Amino acid sequence: MITTTGLTKVYQSRDREVTALDGVDLHVREGEVYGVIGQSGAGKSSLIRCVNLLERPTSGTVTVAGQDLTALAGRGRRASAELRRARTRIGMVFQHFNLLDSRTVLDNIELPLEILGVSGQARTRKARELLDLVGLADKAKSYPGQLSGGQKQRVGIARALAGDPQVLLSDEATSALDPETTRSILQLLRDLNQQLGLTVLLITHEMDVVKTICDSAALMRRGRIVESGTVGELLATPGSELADELFPVGGTASGPDRTVVDVTFHGESASQPVISQLSRTYNIDISILGAAMDTVGGKQIGRMRIELPGRFEENVVPIGFLREQGLQAEVVDGGSAATAAAPLVPEQTPAAITKEVVK
Ligand SMILES: Nc1ncnc2c1ncn2[C@@H]1O[C@H](COP(=O)(O)OP(=O)(O)O)[C@@H](O)[C@H]1O
Ligand SMILES: [Mg+2]
Repeated sequence: MITTTGLTKVYQSRDREVTALDGVDLHVREGEVYGVIGQSGAGKSSLIRCVNLLERPTSGTVTVAGQDLTALAGRGRRASAELRRARTRIGMVFQHFNLLDSRTVLDNIELPLEILGVSGQARTRKARELLDLVGLADKAKSYPGQLSGGQKQRVGIARALAGDPQVLLSDEATSALDPETTRSILQLLRDLNQQLGLTVLLITHEMDVVKTICDSAALMRRGRIVESGTVGELLATPGSELADELFPVGGTASGPDRTVVDVTFHGESASQPVISQLSRTYNIDISILGAAMDTVGGKQIGRMRIELPGRFEENVVPIGFLREQGLQAEVVDGGSAATAAAPLVPEQTPAAITKEVVK
């Protein structure tokens, strides 16, 4: 639904150039909620502004719903009319709502409809429908100044939906809101995603937002996407930073001759009593050092850090059993002097193992 290839944005600011995007390849599937997370300055806003061509990319392409927007930008009158039309199919929600204080709530939503050329009564009817959709039917005649932050953002969302978009872009829509309001706005975005089949690309610096509603996520750093995938894929990727942030599990080995394994559950395996089966099958005592379970995108997902008696060499079979059950099992500590040579986990470098053990 949204694809960028080699997207680059270089800002010229006085005496220097700032590379905000450095070759971003992003792929958002139709109907998914996709979260881009990263610290301040990572390039998230630049990315979202380039996706709807609010900002002209320095190079690279942006395709939304099969249409190459970059090809339309700045190519004569016909192309710019087409670009304007394409942009009505992309809604945008802002952190600070960007409402006009001098207009009523209803008028704020009517504004984009006016620009789209929708006339009088049809415009009001549509705006009222949208207000109803976001749960604010009774606030039509209020002014933005009379609303709470969460209500203002609902108006912002209703306005973004005026052009019946297929895609909704959200730039830190909940960053100015308290946790409870954040939850209700995220729920609204999720509902719209499901009811209207709306594809949502949201950017945030809060991992909780990703955890609450995203099907897929990407981690951005210094203008690049350093990790991306569905939440399930990320959890199944050894050493994934996003997976560690989403499901942090702590705990270190209780003694030298112990093997510590991170087990990731998702989908069906989450509901099966695999750990007790493991314990019974091999007659071993298993300690749980840490665990994090949650529902992500409607699926039960979790990670558990377990400790098995004996060194890695003695646990090859039980670890194989876990993997046969469809679980991801990553050895984080294989007991004294054994881990570095662990043949089952070739991806793991000693450095990654040290990092895991330290925390
Ligand atoms: N209009 C601009 N002119 C110059 N530099 C900019 C402009 N917008 C953003 N930047 C710079 O680009 C980098 C990425 O910014 P931004 O996309 O806003 O990141 P984020 O949204 O992740 O905080 C930052 O170094 C920022 O200072
Ligand atoms: Mg930003």
